[in-house]
Amino acid sequence: MRIKLPANLPAHIAIIMDGNGRWAARRGLPRKAGHAVGSENFRTIATFCRDIGIRYLTVYALSTENARSRPPGEVEGIYTLLRKYLDESLQKMARDRIRLKFFGDLSPLPPDIRALIDKTEEVSRQYTGFQTNICLHYGGRDEILRAVRSMINAKPDTVDEAAFSARLDTAGIPDPDLCIRTGGESRLSNFLLWQLAYAELYYTKTLWPGFSAKELTSVLTDFSRRNRRYGGL
Ligand code: FPP
Repeated sequence: MRIKLPANLPAHIAIIMDGNGRWAARRGLPRKAGHAVGSENFRTIATFCRDIGIRYLTVYALSTENARSRPPGEVEGIYTLLRKYLDESLQKMARDRIRLKFFGDLSPLPPDIRALIDKTEEVSRQYTGFQTNICLHYGGRDEILRAVRSMINAKPDTVDEAAFSARLDTAGIPDPDLCIRTGGESRLSNFLLWQLAYAELYYTKTLWPGFSAKELTSVLTDFSRRNRRYGGL
């Protein structure tokens, strides 16, 4: 596949991977099949981002609301995919050379998954070229509240944007330049509410399992033509 990339790529891309269920339903398959293909596609897109020189990719895999309001069987199915993803990532670590981090309130996750996450974060810490952040049991409001609680005793005049950002899950990582949502909806759904303040937003009708490197390239071309003013002229 020949792909022509624009010169000014974003350093950090955020993705809301929506549409797995509809992708499966259109094929007469159970929802879990959509999540399985979606999970494979996540690996493909992350590898592509690494290969073209993106520095950070942050994806929304499970929101606080998804975990609360989906049938337990579906959440369990996503956990099963997550175990598989973590096992494979640990096996392929030396070849992939991707730093993996997990954002969100990880406390409701099954203990074996938390242990796999700890191990994956620890082992992948050495890879500094490209970092993927996976948001699990994540909510932007929950993240902000966790940060507020951690600063509640700080002196008021020490609470500035930099100090607050340093208390978020994304501490030390630049804000996303671009946020892509697949699946046809045009909303943020509680994703990275603080960090997306100046991100360029891109919505596509493509359902996540069908979102390809080719489509990502055309999104990047669109991004490269935008005029980012950050409130200026
Ligand atoms: C949204 O599609 C997708 C999710 C809630 C789960 C995303 C999960 C994955 C991509 C797989 C697991 C991830 C990893 C990292 C292994 P939806 O179910 O809301 O689709 P719908 O809007 O068509 O119903």
